Amino acid sequence: MSEQKPMVAVVMGSKSDWSVMQHATDTLKRLEIPCEARVISAHRSPEVAFEYASSAEERGLEVIIAAAGGAAHLAGVLAGKTIIPVLGVPMTGWALNGLDALLSTVMMPAGVPVGTLAIGKAGAINAALLAAGFMGNTHPEIRERLKQFRKEQTAKVMADTYLEV
Ligand code: RP5
Repeated sequence: MSEQKPMVAVVMGSKSDWSVMQHATDTLKRLEIPCEARVISAHRSPEVAFEYASSAEERGLEVIIAAAGGAAHLAGVLAGKTIIPVLGVPMTGWALNGLDALLSTVMMPAGVPVGTLAIGKAGAINAALLAAGFMGNTHPEIRERLKQFRKEQTAKVMADTYLEV
C-alpha cells in the first residue's frame, strides 16, 4: 500500500469489510501516515491472526485498527497477542445492524483493552484520527497534520453555516 514501512495496520475479518475500512486507510493517507491493509479472520485464519499480532511490535507497527462484523472477536484476539494499542471498528453485518459487533468489540474484560469506535464509516474514519492522535505524542509532524485537518474541517463547516431559505 505504501512504499514506506507501515506505522498503522488496518486489519479486517473479510474482504466484504473493505469498502467501509477504506475510509480508515484514506484518512491515514490524507495524514501521510504509512499504513497497510490486511484481511485476517480470527476464526477462519486464526494462526495468521496470532502470527500477525505477535510480530506487529517488531515490525514497527504503532497502532492496529481491527474491523469485524457479527461475533467480532478479531480486535480482541489481536489485542491479546500484542502490546501495541488496538482500535476496534464494529461492522454492520447481516443482522442486528452492527449492534452484535459493537458489543462483541467494546465489552472486553478488564486486562486487555480494545479502544472501540462507532459502527461503520464514522468508526473507520475516527479510528484513523485517533491513531494519529496517539502517534502525535511522539511524531510532531503527525500532530501538525492533525491540527491542519481540524482547521480545514472547521473551515468547511463555517463555509456552510448560512443556508438559503
Ligand atoms: C466477519 O464476518 C467479517 O468481519 C465480516 O464483517 C463478516 C461477514 O464476513 P463475510 O461472510 O462477508 O466474509 O468475520
